[in-house]
Amino acid sequence: VDKNSQRLTIAIQKSGRLSKESIALLQACGFKFSLHEARLLAHSSNQPVDLLRVRDDDIPGLVMDGVVDLGLVGENVLEEVRLERQATQLACKVQRLRALDFGQCRLSIAVPKEEAYGGIQDLDGKRIATTYPYLLQNYLQQRGVSANNAILTGSVEVAPRAGLADAICDLVSTGATLEANGLVEKEVIFRSQAQLIQRPEPLSAAKQAIVDQLLPRIDGVQMARE
Ligand code: PRP
Ligand code: ZN
Ligand code: MG
Repeated sequence: VDKNSQRLTIAIQKSGRLSKESIALLQACGFKFSLHEARLLAHSSNQPVDLLRVRDDDIPGLVMDGVVDLGLVGENVLEEVRLERQATQLACKVQRLRALDFGQCRLSIAVPKEEAYGGIQDLDGKRIATTYPYLLQNYLQQRGVSANNAILTGSVEVAPRAGLADAICDLVSTGATLEANGLVEKEVIFRSQAQLIQRPEPLSAAKQAIVDQLLPRIDGVQMARE
């Protein structure tokens, strides 16, 4: 990515829950893209706009560092990266431009269905598997619970049965994943939806003009869907 390019760069999730709707929203706003599965960078054919397709976890950092201009990302990932960067003294500011009407989910603590659960205190001294250690620790600390995080980068839901953890803290959307793994949701620790974010430093006039055109279009598309 060329930081000095006059093309507005937008990071979106390459493959996952937000991918399809992110592309659909930008297309509904009038940007034409021809997407090839393997290609990480896609140029719009009718606007000076490039799409960068990356892992959702990388999107907040790319925006915070100004490597890309805009990002479409879940608040869950945004808040986790913000807390992590705050703790490690890295740049963690972004401009939140719009809450988007997709990607609704919650970050929840779940336990195996055969376990008795009387409240968050029951997790004191236990091990919780998650890919969201900062959001989880924040929640536990505020409640005076000290659990050990088992940080996994995926397949969190199998951790209890594999003997890696007593509970999990993961995203729940339909609840099908929990159900399939014999887990029951006990605490909702964060509610999330997709967000449009912008890098903290001002954009060039040319890029700002595109954003000024994009925002009312997003509002129009979302209003029509309500
Ligand atoms: C989340 C989570 C579960 C799944 C839950 O993963 O990790 O695997 O969604 O959804 P459900 O309640 O509808 O079954 P997701 O693909 O969103 O994110 P990731 O690829 O970043 O792990
Ligand atoms: Zn992810
Ligand atoms: Mg997952």
